[in-house]
Amino acid sequence: MKRLYGLIAILLVFLGFAFVQEKHQTAQKAKVPTVGILQLLSHPALDAIHKGIIHGLAEEGYHVGKNVKIDFQNAQNDQSNLKTMSARFVNENADAMIGIATPSAQALANASSNIPVVLGAITDPEGAHLVKSNEHPGNNVTGVSDQAPLKSQLKLIQKIMPNMKTLGIIYTSSDDSATAQYHQFAALCKQQHVTLKAYSIANTNDLNQVAQQMVSQVDAVYVPTDNTVASAMQTLVSTANAKKVPVFPAVDTMVKAGGLATLSINQYKLGVQTGKMTAAILKGKKPADTPIEFERKGEMTINLSQAKKLGITLPASVVKEAKEHGEVFK
Ligand code: TRP
Repeated sequence: MKRLYGLIAILLVFLGFAFVQEKHQTAQKAKVPTVGILQLLSHPALDAIHKGIIHGLAEEGYHVGKNVKIDFQNAQNDQSNLKTMSARFVNENADAMIGIATPSAQALANASSNIPVVLGAITDPEGAHLVKSNEHPGNNVTGVSDQAPLKSQLKLIQKIMPNMKTLGIIYTSSDDSATAQYHQFAALCKQQHVTLKAYSIANTNDLNQVAQQMVSQVDAVYVPTDNTVASAMQTLVSTANAKKVPVFPAVDTMVKAGGLATLSINQYKLGVQTGKMTAAILKGKKPADTPIEFERKGEMTINLSQAKKLGITLPASVVKEAKEHGEVFK
């Protein structure tokens, strides 16, 4: 009899142990959060932001494939893709969703009013009706803005092109991010007495023709953070190079792709910042009272082979600044 009790006791202990272990395992499984990342399309800036996000999550302890699941979707610049992919994240009960570029963020915000949405490099969250205000977002949306330092960018253009008479700006009329910047930049030029001529395109099919017209009428070109132009920089640059007109883009990745120079918010770092913010939200921070973060300081970024091609000598101070604190593409 004693033996039997002993055996039963051992069995019970064993069963209890198995039960606890099983529970522990399911708890761990349930704890791995899912983050849906929706990228509008591929171009070097957005790709760099995506990479930065993964890095930022890891810096805060969320390692892909280990303790966070990433569902990455690229909408190939297609509105209906944006919709189905957003719905997919909601269906899989994502713990947070990240929108890279304004249309992605808008699709996510439309798809859910309770899953946290983190903005990955959205120029004007307020203007795009994504938040009530940048300081107090108010709903399930917050994130990082990539608003470019337009004033210092214009100053840099004037420094490199002291004899410039007319500056052109090219942007896609349906791109909220680019048009917001076009309006800001136009106001700035007016204030600084710079003659600005605007050229808008509907999509990449227009780019070649409009760019050709533009470079025959201006001394230099400014490009805002425009997703369409960013995905077709080569077309713009080869057209501009043929007329020896320099292109000054809003960001570093577009300088790498053939722009001459800019003071740029580092795109990769923007991604890192977005990833870190997402981590904080996964740990319980509420988007409603998390202000939009801005990166204010641009890094001097130059493209030396472009300068050579255009026969432009960059001011020594600009080259020095890029070498010491910024980026130099050769
Ligand atoms: N700000 C853009 C948007 O809101 C996205 C973006 C980030 C971008 N970096 C860029 C676009 C660089 C063009 C180039 O849609």
